[in-house]
Amino acid sequence: MAALIDGARIAAGIRARVAEEAARLAGQGVVPGLAVILVGEDPASAIYVRSKVRHTRAAGLASFEYALPDTLAQDALLALVQRLNADDRVDGILVQLPLPAHIDADRVLDAIDPRKDVDGFHPVNVGRLSTGTGGLTPCTPLGCMKLLDTVIEDYRGLQAVVIGKSNIVGKPVAMLLLERECTVTVTHIATRNLPDIVRAADILVVAAGAPQLVRGDWVKPGAVVIDVGINRVDGAEGRRIVGDVAFDEMGHAAAVSPVPGGVGPMTIACLLENTLRAARRRAGRGA
Ligand code: GUN
Repeated sequence: MAALIDGARIAAGIRARVAEEAARLAGQGVVPGLAVILVGEDPASAIYVRSKVRHTRAAGLASFEYALPDTLAQDALLALVQRLNADDRVDGILVQLPLPAHIDADRVLDAIDPRKDVDGFHPVNVGRLSTGTGGLTPCTPLGCMKLLDTVIEDYRGLQAVVIGKSNIVGKPVAMLLLERECTVTVTHIATRNLPDIVRAADILVVAAGAPQLVRGDWVKPGAVVIDVGINRVDGAEGRRIVGDVAFDEMGHAAAVSPVPGGVGPMTIACLLENTLRAARRRAGRGA
């Protein structure tokens, strides 16, 4: 039987450590603050943002929330970002994606002060990740690595396959795996012979956004499987959430992260950690 990688438990541990450290900083007069901006009514985004705000407060960080209508002008959003860049109470700025079509997301992300870019999406942080020179690292990829770290000691030379080439997950997680000296293959929508490529993987990270795409016979015995997918599907028992991996077919893997309860909670835990890191740096108290 594959070991279950319990993201909910691991994330709770990270949040507890963040809360402890935040309390210590608060004792020194530094209360880390996170600003979250949601534009429009996307229901999934609204759920994620609510959860981010709840955990931010629970960890003792200051939370600044902006829920704005989808008619918001791009210039107004850029002006808000500039205001938050200049606000000393704010250590982290997160603009929830996707943004409405009339707003150029790249322009908005470019406007965030890279030191406050707790999502790690600013080109400066993307560049730092690809050169392995620090900066803030995107939360979901960081969460994937922390899950992998619980079951893998030595990454050197392992074959890692990442399914999905998004800027939010696929590309940055590939960079992190490369930094550990895995041999990394990134697959995407135009990839041919996907099952054969996946069969070579010692580490498989799946961020395709396709319900139960990866079947049991694609996965090598002993592989470690991280499922980043969150898909709402209608079944006999009503609506349920499934990942990008056919979880019930993964018995021969060494370890697998479930959906829900795998990567999801890690993303928020890493967001809090990034906010703390940004606060420590801005206060001159950390690396
Ligand atoms: N939308 C989906 N994932 C993310 C994320 O990690 N950060 C932001 N800002 N938006 C997202």
